[in-house]
Amino acid sequence: MAHGDVGLELGARVAGALRRGLDVEITAVDAVVRPSTRDGVDYQCNAAMSLAKRLGKPPREVAQAIVAHLDSADLVDEPEVAGPGFINLRLRDGWLADRAAALLGDERLGVPTADEPRRYALDYGSPNVAKEMHIGHLRSSIIGDAILRLLRFAGHQVTPHNHLGDWGTPFGMLIEHLLDEGAGVEVAERGISDLNRFYQQARTKFDADPAFADRARARVVALQGGDEETLVLWRALVAESTRHFQKVYDLLGVRLTDADIYGESFYNPYLDAVTADLEAKGLTEISDGAVCVFPPGFSNREGNPLPLIVRKSDGGYGYAATDLATARYWAEERDMTDLLYVVGNPQAQHFAMVFAASRQAGYLTEGHTSVHIGFGTILGEDGKTIRTRAGGSVKLVELLAEAVEQAEKTVAERSSLDAARQAEVARAVGIGAVKYADLSSDREKDYVFTWARMLAKEGNTSVYLQYANARCHSILRKAEQEPGGGVRITDPAERALVLKLLQLPAAVAATIEAYAPHKLTGYLYELAATFTTFYDNCPILRSDVDPDDRASRLVLTKVTSDVLTLGLDLLGIAAPHEL
Ligand code: ARG
Repeated sequence: MAHGDVGLELGARVAGALRRGLDVEITAVDAVVRPSTRDGVDYQCNAAMSLAKRLGKPPREVAQAIVAHLDSADLVDEPEVAGPGFINLRLRDGWLADRAAALLGDERLGVPTADEPRRYALDYGSPNVAKEMHIGHLRSSIIGDAILRLLRFAGHQVTPHNHLGDWGTPFGMLIEHLLDEGAGVEVAERGISDLNRFYQQARTKFDADPAFADRARARVVALQGGDEETLVLWRALVAESTRHFQKVYDLLGVRLTDADIYGESFYNPYLDAVTADLEAKGLTEISDGAVCVFPPGFSNREGNPLPLIVRKSDGGYGYAATDLATARYWAEERDMTDLLYVVGNPQAQHFAMVFAASRQAGYLTEGHTSVHIGFGTILGEDGKTIRTRAGGSVKLVELLAEAVEQAEKTVAERSSLDAARQAEVARAVGIGAVKYADLSSDREKDYVFTWARMLAKEGNTSVYLQYANARCHSILRKAEQEPGGGVRITDPAERALVLKLLQLPAAVAATIEAYAPHKLTGYLYELAATFTTFYDNCPILRSDVDPDDRASRLVLTKVTSDVLTLGLDLLGIAAPHEL
């Protein structure tokens, strides 16, 4: 096997030894062979510890039996049992060198495709119509897009769907307010920033004036009932908003298009049927006049069961009904195996309830996974939800424009590029910095948005990775020779770089497994740092370097650049050749 995760490959050998030596069947994964941080040890196997109890033998004895039966002389030097029963493995230099050489020209860079491709429906982006996208929608777009790219790269089928908030209560108040003002379609076409203010006004009225609120609710019912006067205004609002969203996606390099829009309105025709179906299956109860489902295991603070409101007492449908229809649509009609939703943490309970009810209703079965890929909020430097100086929520377009502006300064400081190219690079650096800062934080946590840290040239930033990659390109340009001719390991820094390069498959797998892009950024950062040490210790272009070493180091430089470029691309970040 010329591909894949070294740890798994070693795991398979350990599994073989266990089968032969101790008559134990375990998988390569269960053999838990992981990279080690100990000096002189590349990987460590902990299988003996977990098996000892089951086998009724001391862990050291199990470890010794594994080592005695290990068929891995091609791969590792003498394995060694350490401490209470760890097995220390050191890969052979020759094997490492051959593996690294095989990465040259391999467009997958060792990453295998899934044995059993799945069909994912991926809900991401999902802003609300008639409102400008704010920084809170940044995360869903960026994280969702990275997940889309990663899953596709792994060989899965992924259908993105943008669950636009284009239906429901906010729409009722917005349209009522438009009519109050005696305005028509032209207002909807006046531009999104006007509408944004309009939204605020409608909101204020809705909160202060119960009669207006009633009208707004009735308007929602009219909208859902297909009233033409209402629909005309609604369509204009959606079209205007969609244009705005597309501009942001294009600026961000997020792959969503109009074709991916499956807004809340899309599911409207399905809501009656879903309700009837839930009723027919005996899953509904009437509570305060509303049709509700009470999925088991959810209760409020008083211990009373929590309802998922399917149809409100006024006959209107809400957010929960739509999401039940969404689950049913993608699982049943579109035959997807996995439903993923990239939505902020505050909606965790909503999704848990929707998933539970969808399983009760049989929309989701054993073969389906349903995952809420939650994320925290972005904080300002004061530790509170990020705000503009005026106190409003930060607008995404403004933020991105500022990122590019800041990056222009960074790039101009040391770049020898012409103005046009500099502008292009500044875009890659600025937008990349915003995306990377987001993707490199554990998505479940909040993080602080800091320009200085985000654009730092040292540390775990996209700029650092982009510089490392540009340095590789610069070396390759100056070398004036095609990289090729094998790899040889003569220096510990070379060896460390090779080991890191071979860990891409494991990094991609771990990232996908937890839908956690920060695992990939962590790997890429380690790679760039390992390359920097290699570059400082192993001269490449100097005239006194042995030609074979030089050729080998050029191969490693090229493969490093390829891995950085691929890794950044999987995160949706550009990797310019020159900075
Ligand atoms: N539009 C919603 C919001 O801004 C997010 C929608 C997420 N997707 C879903 N299927 N509920 O909060």
